[in-house]
Order: sequence, then structure tokens, then C-alpha cells
Amino acid sequence: MPTASQAKDLRAELAQLASVAKSGRDLMSAMVKLLHERMLKYNWVGFYMIEEDPAGKPPILVLGPFEGAMTPHTRIPLHQGICGAAASSGKTVVVDDVSKDSRYLACSLETKSEIVVPVFVRGKVVGELDIDSHFPAAFKDEDRNLVEYCAGLIGTALSKSPA
Ligand code: SME
Repeated sequence: MPTASQAKDLRAELAQLASVAKSGRDLMSAMVKLLHERMLKYNWVGFYMIEEDPAGKPPILVLGPFEGAMTPHTRIPLHQGICGAAASSGKTVVVDDVSKDSRYLACSLETKSEIVVPVFVRGKVVGELDIDSHFPAAFKDEDRNLVEYCAGLIGTALSKSPA
């Protein structure tokens, strides 16, 4: 959990990254790197972005920029996983103990808790920021605020330039 001053510093750095990023995708890469480096309990940090199917099949979440170990889940249908739940509901999902959540798709055996925050562009979910922790109940209100701030920066960047 970030202290108030840590969260303030991190927000300033994130806003600075957002002001110099060349594209939404660039900002996503810089953001996952910073969060993974700085937040010691954020052990996997990555984006999943919604890909529409041109042939009219259901949309799917596709792994975007991430930091941490490679995950077996590179494409997640919207009706699966905690990732699918956040994207389809448009709501932040915090899971304190992933072993007790039947929606959970395992990424690493070490993962104990997870937060997934949707990214909106013009009121529509276009993707999400997913963070896993090796620590149970790692995501408190301060973390939720920070991760929602990050997702908001990405939504703003993507509304200016495509991913
Ligand atoms: N745990 C996620 C899958 C993605 S990995 O955590 C990177 C889920 O249940 O949707």
C-alpha cells in the first residue's frame, strides 16, 4: 500500500509520463514498468485490451504491455476470469484471496490477490489494467485510487491517439 506521500510522488511521475508519451501504447509500457519497479507488492502489472472481431465473433481481451512473468492467458474471453468480469461490468474488481474466487484464471502459483480496473474511452470499456500480488489482500483503497488514476490517464491518452 502506498503512503500518502509515495502515492502523491507516483501520481506526479505518472502525469509527467503521460505528458511526454507519444501514444497510448507508449504510456502503457512506461506505466507498467514504473508501477512494477516502484510498488513492491505489484508483482505482475499488465494491460489487456479489447479486440473486436471483424467477422462478428464476440470481442476478446488481448494481452498488451506487461511487466512480470509471462502469463499463459494472452487472450481472455469477456465471460471468463476476473479480467473478463471487470471488462464486461465496467467496474473495478478487487480480489483479496484469489483461491476463493471461482472466476480466477491462474497466472502464477504465487499470486494471492488481484485488482483489475477498466479503461474507458468516451464512456466505453476499451481494456483494463490488471495487477497481481504475491501477498494476500494487497490492494487497499489507496491502491485502488492509484490504479484507477492510472487507468484514467490511459483512457485520456487513448482518446487523443489510437493505441
Ligand atoms: N488472473 C486473471 C488472468 C490474467 S493473469 O492474472 C495475468 C483472471 O482471472 O482473469
